[in-house]
Amino acid sequence: MPDSPRSPELPEDPEQALEALHQATDRCRECPIGEHATQSVFGEGPVRATVMVVGEQPGDQEDLQGRPFVGPAGRLLDKAVEDLGWLRERLYVTNAVKHFKFELRGKRRMHKTPAQREVAACLHWLESEIAQVRPQALIALGATASRALLGRPVAVMRERGHWHTDARGLPVLVTLHPSALLRGDPEQREAAYEQWLKDLSGANEYLAPRKRSRQKR
Ligand code: URA
Repeated sequence: MPDSPRSPELPEDPEQALEALHQATDRCRECPIGEHATQSVFGEGPVRATVMVVGEQPGDQEDLQGRPFVGPAGRLLDKAVEDLGWLRERLYVTNAVKHFKFELRGKRRMHKTPAQREVAACLHWLESEIAQVRPQALIALGATASRALLGRPVAVMRERGHWHTDARGLPVLVTLHPSALLRGDPEQREAAYEQWLKDLSGANEYLAPRKRSRQKR
């Protein structure tokens, strides 16, 4: 079978397979977004991470740097990881859509929510990524990631903080996207952040260091 961006021949080694998938997403033109983006932004993290965190799509800074969650939303996610005491080496971070969709306002590239058909076109890349990383659980940040992972529209405000099950049988924790917190009422930001941490803490069992049981003397 010829090597195509949609189904690249994958090396057996998962790290190399992820790299091949990354390169293939860069060439992907199954939807129009890739044409205008600087590059694809693939997931990052250890190949056998216990949890995969899934966002919506790369933003302006992610598009320029080629790395997920390096802009303002990523900094808030980093703060949450720190505040929750999660082990970085257990986390793999990625997006439902691999290219940055934007509209120009003057010289500024403003984030534009990907259309459902674009999310659907990108889904097989996320599925391949999940198949290589083999996480034990997923965290969906926001409506786009939740819908991509659960295959149905998700009312994030109603379903947040709960575990759901995807078609693979993997547990999926739904919560808000960090950008929603950044866009929210500044006076409510602290309370919204605390609530978000509470949602995310549902994944502590996968990500926090295990407490040592006290040794009997
Ligand atoms: N928002 C996302 O959903 N993903 C990123 O990588 C950055 C911002």
